[in-house]
Amino acid sequence: MRLQINIDHVATIRQARRTDEPDPVRAAVLAELGGADGITVHLREDRRHIQDRDLRLLGATVRTGVNLELAAAGDVVDIALEVRPMEATLVPERREEITTEGGLALRDADARGRVADAVRRLRDAAIRTSLFIDPDDDAVRAAATLGADAVELHTGEFAEAWKLRGTAAGRAAIARQLERLRRAASLGASLGLDVHAGHGLTYENVTPVAAIPEIEELNIGHSVISRAVLVGLERAVREMAEIVRRARRSTERE
Ligand code: PXP
Repeated sequence: MRLQINIDHVATIRQARRTDEPDPVRAAVLAELGGADGITVHLREDRRHIQDRDLRLLGATVRTGVNLELAAAGDVVDIALEVRPMEATLVPERREEITTEGGLALRDADARGRVADAVRRLRDAAIRTSLFIDPDDDAVRAAATLGADAVELHTGEFAEAWKLRGTAAGRAAIARQLERLRRAASLGASLGLDVHAGHGLTYENVTPVAAIPEIEELNIGHSVISRAVLVGLERAVREMAEIVRRARRSTERE
């Protein structure tokens, strides 16, 4: 099982001020030191968090491997071919969404055509290709037909069900979503696909997903970056307080 850490939200904090900190490239080094098996980033069409500069530097510095999430449209496929990440995960992308809301719409002929074209271009460049899909039979079969190396099962609906775990209806929904993930994972593996999963996974809900034997890779971002903010805040404040107090002591001595 590989744990890949999505560092988009480090870039989100930087972009909130359009400044140069925190640098996702430095965050990637720390994630690797912490045991990440890979670094995941989404180069969005609107560049709301990760920038081209980040991707190029990550390509040159990440020791484990970069999983680049990208839409099958716009200039990002060209950039992927140039940067040559270890893995490219094709995701649907809508400008107005807060985060990737669902899997690729492989039933839609136009969308399927764009994905097929991107898979072909990436595979011709020997880049491992994964498709982010809802955990349903037809989507898994479509991914296999399109020649992807892997599928990433969208765990968002499972994560939403988890929030209702205090109720009987919520627990039934969790059981249904887990069964859906297990079934899709098993079908994917039987079709020769590597099976990944991600979206909305947290310290509380990851255990039953990580226990599904066919799943070989998890991509987790928001929950880990959120925790990093909290576990790091005390030390960060202590360091700033020390600088401020030292400055005051030195003026008082003069
Ligand atoms: N996998 C994919 C394909 C995603 O688009 C995202 C969100 O960027 C993730 C995993 C990580 O989701 P989260 O930030 O909720 O852990």
